[in-house]
Amino acid sequence: MKGIILAGGHGTRLHPITLSVSKQLLPVHDKPMIYYPLSVLMLAGIREILIISAPSDLAGFRRLFGDGSALGLSIGYAEQAAPLGIAEALLIGADHIGTDSVALILGDNIFHGPDLATLLRRSVRELDGCVLFGYPVPDPERYGVAETDPDGRLVRIEEKPAEARSNRAITGLYLYDNEAVAIARRLRPSARGELEITDVNRVYLERGRARLVDLGQGYAWLDTGTHDSLTNASQYVQTIEHRQGLRIGCIEEIALRMGYIDRDACYRLGMGLAKSCYGQYVMALAAPQPLLTPVG
Ligand code: TTP
Repeated sequence: MKGIILAGGHGTRLHPITLSVSKQLLPVHDKPMIYYPLSVLMLAGIREILIISAPSDLAGFRRLFGDGSALGLSIGYAEQAAPLGIAEALLIGADHIGTDSVALILGDNIFHGPDLATLLRRSVRELDGCVLFGYPVPDPERYGVAETDPDGRLVRIEEKPAEARSNRAITGLYLYDNEAVAIARRLRPSARGELEITDVNRVYLERGRARLVDLGQGYAWLDTGTHDSLTNASQYVQTIEHRQGLRIGCIEEIALRMGYIDRDACYRLGMGLAKSCYGQYVMALAAPQPLLTPVG
């Protein structure tokens, strides 16, 4: 399976911060926002990843990750000339996807929960059509909304409905088989002028090949789109990291644990950041007997 991180957009709700900086490069506590969706793809076992962003922002992502080899990944880059819809990522990424399946994740989505890796890998393994991830929210009207029958089967998907029939938002992580590219090619822009990912999901639903995985209790799906929610997300990460002594979205740690890099490579990555607590944490991970260093 290939991975795509869609990290463009205008970020208008974060103005003036995002007038000169990409939203997905902003800090969420101790690391850039894009580390979190990247870590989700890595946990799912995906190593070939395309980052799509605005032409003016790609250089910043390149500076962060290069070709990805330091993390045992292969990372490529592509431009989205203007944010004309999430589904456009499937067209821009068509060559990258090739004949493979794909996990598309939005660059501002943060997921956290117990055994997320197991859930992701099982979802990848059992993929037959498309897998969407639902999360209960108090304001479903702002999202694509999933409705299920009493047996939990997905029966309806609506984009920003005036009156939502359920409180389950469809999050910004989508797993698709290779058909997604052909489906995206047949899309026409919606009334708001975008290629809607909800329209792709609806085609899978009509074909009986869309599945919803509920991220219910125990999981967090964090919004980072407004000043308050961005601060709240940072505080959430800080609190969990300080209390648990673990880091959320630490890509070096995931690369080490997944076997993408060895201890020496992990240590070198930490050394490059040694003046920060983050770097010291990464160096400690690489110790033969991993040290329990306090986070923070
Ligand atoms: P949005 O939150 O819909 O848009 P935005 O991030 O530009 O923010 P705002 O509403 O404040 O203007 O986008 C969700 C994510 O998807 C975000 O990471 C940006 C990304 N995105 C693209 O990269 N390209 C697109 O065409 C769209 C629609 C979104």
